[in-house]
Amino acid sequence: MSLLPLLNVRFATALAQVGAPNAQPLVQPAGRPEFGDYQMNGVMGAAKALKLNPRELAKNVIDAVDLAGIAASLEIAGPGFINIKLADSFLAARVASALGDAQLGVENLPRQKVMVEYSSVNLAKEMHIGHLRGGIIGDALARIQNFVGQEVLRQNHVGDWGTQFGMLMAYMAESRKTGDGDFELKDLDTFYKKSKVRFDEDPAFADLAREYVVKLQGGDTDVLALWKQFVSISLTHCNAIYQKLGLLLDNGDVRGESFYNDDLPVLVNELRERGLLTEDQGAQVVFLDEFKNKDGEPAAFIVQKQGGGYLYATTDLGAIRFRTRELKLDRCLYVVDARQGLHFQQLFTTARKAGFLAEDAQFEHIAYGTIMGPDGKPLKTRSGDSVKLGDLLDEAVERAFKLVTEKRPELDESSRKDIAKVVGIGALKYADLSKNRNTDYIFDWDAMLSFEGNSAPYLLFAYTRVKSIFRKVGDWDRHVDISVAEPAEHALALELVRFADVIHQVARDSQPHFLCAYLYNVATAFSRFYEACPVLQDGVANTSRLRLCALTADTLKTGLDLLGIQVLEVM
Ligand code: ARG
Repeated sequence: MSLLPLLNVRFATALAQVGAPNAQPLVQPAGRPEFGDYQMNGVMGAAKALKLNPRELAKNVIDAVDLAGIAASLEIAGPGFINIKLADSFLAARVASALGDAQLGVENLPRQKVMVEYSSVNLAKEMHIGHLRGGIIGDALARIQNFVGQEVLRQNHVGDWGTQFGMLMAYMAESRKTGDGDFELKDLDTFYKKSKVRFDEDPAFADLAREYVVKLQGGDTDVLALWKQFVSISLTHCNAIYQKLGLLLDNGDVRGESFYNDDLPVLVNELRERGLLTEDQGAQVVFLDEFKNKDGEPAAFIVQKQGGGYLYATTDLGAIRFRTRELKLDRCLYVVDARQGLHFQQLFTTARKAGFLAEDAQFEHIAYGTIMGPDGKPLKTRSGDSVKLGDLLDEAVERAFKLVTEKRPELDESSRKDIAKVVGIGALKYADLSKNRNTDYIFDWDAMLSFEGNSAPYLLFAYTRVKSIFRKVGDWDRHVDISVAEPAEHALALELVRFADVIHQVARDSQPHFLCAYLYNVATAFSRFYEACPVLQDGVANTSRLRLCALTADTLKTGLDLLGIQVLEVM
């Protein structure tokens, strides 16, 4: 059992013994050394319920709790906290067992079928900065779910249907007719922009575009073939970005909106049969009493437009229905922009009512905020366009290359380029993952590429520093006992054995910034340890300390890997 549940179980037993069987132990990492390693916070609540003096109850809990071999000391603090200092021998044993385990002591969680839906771009346009966070966060979550033993399905719910395709096809037909058909299909963005201009300026062109959409929906073979061509070009573009960014997504993960087309009339009928539909100004609507506006009117979740067209929401209902009935998911993480929060709340509520979502299914909107420019507005290029993702990734690598060249001018160019790729992309990803995903953040090249503070360069460098110790040592005996004695050894070992608790927390709450903060703590605890506790002295290695170094390296590498960030052996 990982550390936190273990302590909680032991204290729960103790609380039951002193007459508080329903009290929550609420054990937490202490956060400050003077509070010990962990703190048990459940006594005050229990004492209140039992009308007892909390400090007296705390004393009884300390007498009752069985932490033999685990804790070195237990102390009452303040109004009734219990400060817990773990035993050095316990930490040493935990470090040894993590080192002997491919999962570094992280046990699997009860197995579920989990989908992580992410990226989900609208095709036919080039990827831009608005697609960065979802890709990075979703990828990390998919890796973490996999690591804790879940059956993971990655899903790219691309927008591959609708008016924009009619527009593209109309433009293609037109430019063929006028003979200036020398467009570069690869240059989708220009193509998209030009067709949008035509669409906005010329009503006849717009009508033609709509006609194409109708033909597409009607299954016209030529039009379908053209559509497939656009989709495939767009996906090729996306895949190139995914690869540059080191995301796991590929064509096998794509199931676009068009996949649900045939289900839409069927599901609307099911909603009708369940008595959930109301006609409102010609549209088919599910009224949701759960979401009232300030006049007390229920929100209208529109599933079919006047005239019969379906919407984004209808497709999402189709996707939920499919994910429940066909894929039988236990859990689904929708990694999507926070601005779609209300859509997802209403979607899940409607799906529950319609029976598309089982009561115990965990379908969650994993919301993320916007990337802002220095002016606090969504980041744009100087000319006011959205920043293309391809350009952004190139700039990250270029900036990292400059940095590496400054620090290591003696390295040959190709090594510097290799390092720059890892550092540049890693910095971009880490900067994003280390922030609370729910909030907006200001994009800052200097901070993300800094070697100080909670940044990728800092962690990557810390990792190479640990690895360099092993290069100096050469062969060593990996089976010696570990002894934890010095305060800095205790502090490092304590961080290292917390890994499982942190991973489990992130798997539950989908908040990768906790893993980042943890890795940063490991790196700083290692720094202090390395200063205070010589690992190599007069050419002789302290093998117990080497084992602490080994687990530090493994933890940093595994942790970064779970975030989708590569490490370097030297930099
Ligand atoms: N394609 C959508 C957009 O760009 C995002 C899709 C999110 N996923 C979903 N199941 N609605 O806004």
